[in-house]
Amino acid sequence: MKHVLVTGGAGYIGSHTVVELVQAGYEVVIVDDLSASDGSLLKGIKAIIGKDIPFIQVDVADVRALHRIAHEFGMPDAVIHFAAYKSVNESVAEPLKYYRNNIGGMAGVLQFMKEGGVKKIVFSSSCSVYGQPQLLPVNEEASLANPQSPYANTKKICEEMLADFCKANQQIDAISLRYFNPIGAHPSSLIGELPVGVPNNLVPYITQTAAGLREKLFIYGTDYNTPDGSCIRDFIHVSDLAIAHVKALEYQPPHSPEVFNIGTGEGVSVLQLVTLFEDVTGKQLPIEYTHRRPGDVEQVWADNSKALKKLGWKPQYTLQEALLSAWNWEKKIRGITE
Ligand SMILES: NC(=O)c1ccc[n+]([C@@H]2O[C@H](COP(=O)([O-])OP(=O)(O)OC[C@H]3O[C@@H](n4cnc5c(N)ncnc54)[C@H](O)[C@@H]3O)[C@@H](O)[C@H]2O)c1
Repeated sequence: MKHVLVTGGAGYIGSHTVVELVQAGYEVVIVDDLSASDGSLLKGIKAIIGKDIPFIQVDVADVRALHRIAHEFGMPDAVIHFAAYKSVNESVAEPLKYYRNNIGGMAGVLQFMKEGGVKKIVFSSSCSVYGQPQLLPVNEEASLANPQSPYANTKKICEEMLADFCKANQQIDAISLRYFNPIGAHPSSLIGELPVGVPNNLVPYITQTAAGLREKLFIYGTDYNTPDGSCIRDFIHVSDLAIAHVKALEYQPPHSPEVFNIGTGEGVSVLQLVTLFEDVTGKQLPIEYTHRRPGDVEQVWADNSKALKKLGWKPQYTLQEALLSAWNWEKKIRGITE
């Protein structure tokens, strides 16, 4: 199991995973249509690992193009499928964009795997499939009855597609990793989160506000049923998340698809995170408190015991380290010296 096709590898989590894969001895080919990234993280990957990784700009729904790539670089042993759109809020406004890309992309990848005889897939799922869980921390057995956005629903449908695909193709090893909230950047500051346009995720909004690119930080919702009224999430360092993919490739699931929560197991409120960022960086953020956003879940954090036990994976970075790495990355790309 050495040759891995990474879809969406020019993006945030994909680029960090490519670095960990190469450092673990895997041969990687990246496909990405650059619809949600500008390709610059590919240079950062090269700077970290010291060599070029084959990259082909292609939409993963284009099955024939995937076969052409396999013809050129060899049929992969496994696919790690990141390529998708990821904004909860945008998906509420533009649901068809999400259904078309996320589900069409998954169908393309699975068809390619079937036709090419690729036997392993690791799929990027999300804790958003749980909606608002009844019990916290949430474990993998929880109901997926209430995804609260079209984005979350695409992830739930993709997991169902994978289950049907595995039923019909018993030789497939499939793992869905349900990510909680990845933040931070590689310790080298050579790759990190680089949203196109206005960030939808909290931490790049925080770092862009600290860098003076945004006038103020908006806190969406102050009356949630949480101790400080803001939403609670499980923030995990992106390099820890990336390593979970290497562990998933090494793991032989007894049945497919097998699902793992990938989070730290700690719930932290949005306001606590902002305060911690201010503490570790010494920056004060201008804040505006505003209304709740549609699609946002009130509170969710992971029971990660299954991943700890079965994948032999354990998050290494503290929240402080994650926030500092995000700030170091923002300073690096904006040329800020302090
Ligand atoms: N970042 C998060 O908070 C988070 C949380 C849970 C799950 N996820 C999932 O993890 C995956 C990666 O997320 P990310 O944060 O790295 O996002 P990202 O936007 O940085 O990266 C996704 C990459 O996929 C590419 N892409 C999108 N559609 C494509 C298509 N049809 N064909 C080829 N390339 C395509 C984009 O250009 C982008 O480079 C996504 O599936 C996302 O839904 C992300």
